[in-house]
Amino acid sequence: MKKTKYKTNRILILVAFLLFLIIGIYPMLHPSKGDNDTLSNIGYSKEEIQAINSLHKDNIAYIENNEYISNLIDIIKNSAFKEKNLKKYIELNSLTNLELDNVIYIVNMNYEIKDTYTNEIVAIMKEEYFIEENIDRYINYMNSIQSEYENTTDLAKAVVTNVNSGIDVEFYESVEDTDISKGTLMLVNKYHKLSPDYVPSNLVTVEAKYGRTLQMDKTAYEAFKRMWQDATKEGLSINVRSPYRSYATQKSLYERYASVDGYDEADTYSARAGYSEHQTGLAVDVVARDDDLGNFENTKEFEWMKENAHKYGFILRYPKGKEYLTGYMYESWHYRYVGVDVATDIYNKGITFEEYYAYYIEQK
Ligand code: DAL
Ligand code: ZN
Repeated sequence: MKKTKYKTNRILILVAFLLFLIIGIYPMLHPSKGDNDTLSNIGYSKEEIQAINSLHKDNIAYIENNEYISNLIDIIKNSAFKEKNLKKYIELNSLTNLELDNVIYIVNMNYEIKDTYTNEIVAIMKEEYFIEENIDRYINYMNSIQSEYENTTDLAKAVVTNVNSGIDVEFYESVEDTDISKGTLMLVNKYHKLSPDYVPSNLVTVEAKYGRTLQMDKTAYEAFKRMWQDATKEGLSINVRSPYRSYATQKSLYERYASVDGYDEADTYSARAGYSEHQTGLAVDVVARDDDLGNFENTKEFEWMKENAHKYGFILRYPKGKEYLTGYMYESWHYRYVGVDVATDIYNKGITFEEYYAYYIEQK
């Protein structure tokens, strides 16, 4: 009798010990599970607690030490959510009024966490051709044009396109020297000028069968000849009218136009000396047969050039609809050699050389 009682006691002690072990060890084995009471006291619902409990214990502890975050579940369930960034999402979310997708974007892209972001600024940062070092210019420029736009994406696109092209500054203001080390990709426009004594090193003379026997960059000329031959096979006649022009030639040309039309008008179709691409030797004005430049747009030769010039490395440099970016009226006759790869890229992207240069060439 005594023995049985003693035995029962031992069994009870053993069971109690086992229970103690299980209760004590279980939380150690499952440390990531949050304290539901703490979370619920903060204000989280059952569903929210469930989502929180799927996180790593450090993140749960962080949430338990924070105040209630009303969109925490939306953060966790966002398709771009990365758990390692949780604390940063929460921080940026509390600092700004950004839409959640924008919070997640800024953090995932590793941009600085700060309270100055707006949804418009993030829309700019999401633009295809966004350049980080232009951010202050984008913001200043955006403030000046914002009232003209209802749609944030349209606004962001205009801001990036226009600032990358330079037009947040007046033409001929804040002019830099052209970076001639870029070779066939050098940029000459109303913000980038060549010095009066810049003469391309590899000028050659155009043979009479290709048009006027003037000078042109050798690489551009070789490409032009290939283009001319292929066009000729199709019964077309694309001839050189004006290729390389020296600083002095451009100066007298511009002054002549200005004396007839006035400086403002001349500026819309003629470059000032030092600002003409023709001084690079890489640009060429073409005509059909011995027609006028102004009539090129109405020719079969132009139709062919529109579809094929890029295959030989040439771009239509001053396109229709982009006058506000290039600073020049539409010129169906002016082609610029940039090489086949870049010309094809520009053709496919449908952007100007200004935009392309800022994003793909200048930064490198
Ligand atoms: N017509 C172009 C813009 C030039 O003068 O270079
Ligand atoms: Zn031209």
